[in-house]
Amino acid sequence: MLRNTLFRLSSSVQTHDNKRRLVTIVCQQSWYSTKNSGVEFKASGVQVNDKLYDRDDWTNVTPSVLAKLDRKLHLQERNPIGIIRQLIEGHFNDFRTFNDLSPVVTTRQNFDDLLIPKDHPSRTKSDNYYFNKDTVLRAHTSAHQLEGLASGANKFLISGDVYRRDEIDSSHYPVFHQIEGLAYFDGQSKGEADVVAAIQADLEKAKPIPSNIEIVDDTIIHPGNPLQGRHSEAVVTPLVAHLKHSINSMICHLFADEPNLKVRWIEAYFPFTSPSYEVEIYYQGEWLEVLGCGVVQQALLDKGDRHHAVGWAFGMGLERLAMVLFGIPDIRLFWSQDSRFIDQFTPGQIKKFQAFSKYPPCIKDISFWLPPTEWHDNNFCETVRGVAGDLVENVKLIDDFTHSKTNKRSLCYRITYRSMDRNVTNDEINEIQEKVRSTVEQDFGVELREKK
Ligand code: DAH
Repeated sequence: MLRNTLFRLSSSVQTHDNKRRLVTIVCQQSWYSTKNSGVEFKASGVQVNDKLYDRDDWTNVTPSVLAKLDRKLHLQERNPIGIIRQLIEGHFNDFRTFNDLSPVVTTRQNFDDLLIPKDHPSRTKSDNYYFNKDTVLRAHTSAHQLEGLASGANKFLISGDVYRRDEIDSSHYPVFHQIEGLAYFDGQSKGEADVVAAIQADLEKAKPIPSNIEIVDDTIIHPGNPLQGRHSEAVVTPLVAHLKHSINSMICHLFADEPNLKVRWIEAYFPFTSPSYEVEIYYQGEWLEVLGCGVVQQALLDKGDRHHAVGWAFGMGLERLAMVLFGIPDIRLFWSQDSRFIDQFTPGQIKKFQAFSKYPPCIKDISFWLPPTEWHDNNFCETVRGVAGDLVENVKLIDDFTHSKTNKRSLCYRITYRSMDRNVTNDEINEIQEKVRSTVEQDFGVELREKK
């Protein structure tokens, strides 16, 4: 399943974990020094441009993920990710835009400022790339909401690359892109009635939703997805209507060429909004989750010094939308530097991708006995990606059993290798697989099962 939001992600990882009894392992990365566009791994820490981040128990950023820092696909005019970003900015044309904020943020920005509890599963090392306990690669663009508020703009969009440790398949990549939107109505020096009037005036000006879209929405405000203590229904009802109208019309704008578009609103939970919603789009027989949104928590607006404002926010992944709109089958293609990919696209236009020939895959299995320590899928995937880079298409757990006598647990993963732009040879993949085997053995202390 393609995940888009941090909180849906965490819950799916949790159920996954329960099912497979997977928990965090302390991953001993094999660190090495590499110079890569302003990034350098040193014994004392990781340097990005001129800043050195001291190493500690939390450090788990990898050279392969840091190599992506300067790609900024959302700023590339011909990349589908950049095209979608521009279409969204064009739609919200009176919003201030922030496109180039550094993805290296403090844990305060990524979590605390957003009221995410200290023990929330989305903070774990196995889900994030930490420089150290206080510094992390942002896991969502929400990390910049307070910076947006500090800018003084009352409506803004923030786009950028976001980073999460995850499984490997055609729709998951450790770096993807999000766009965040926030709009607020300030009640400073005015009363509630004026805020309501301002929201309503805005709604009246808005264009109606076109008839090609069917909106399924039976959400209501109730104690399970409540109004905040400081809010009255008189304010939140028009504010939520404003949020829903803004989002629905953005989706219509993006899917203008789809004849029958179905959009569904469902209840959700985010620590930084209440009430909260997720929006799904019906596409090729499936409901796809595309964004999370809600009424901004007053405690967050307080932190941003907007004590008398009420507002809404949303956060949306760009890859999923781009895959659907451009018909792109594999998430790695966005990163391809093959001109057969990028030359197909024109800034400002949504156009179906014409597949160029797919090269054959090379499939290898690896099985091993686990040490008594804890194990987590994401760390294994990270190691495979560290060795094989973008040649790895998919990593799948195909066998998991515990020996009845020794109580030792054995796992077998199937790794699919395939290049997007050339044929791979069996010899080349054998060499990579050997390196994966020795790295996994060394880093995790596993006992490899089939001997070479
Ligand atoms: N940051 C959330 C995520 O990545 C998505 C999100 C949800 C952003 C609700 C928002 C919001 O601004 O209001 O999971």
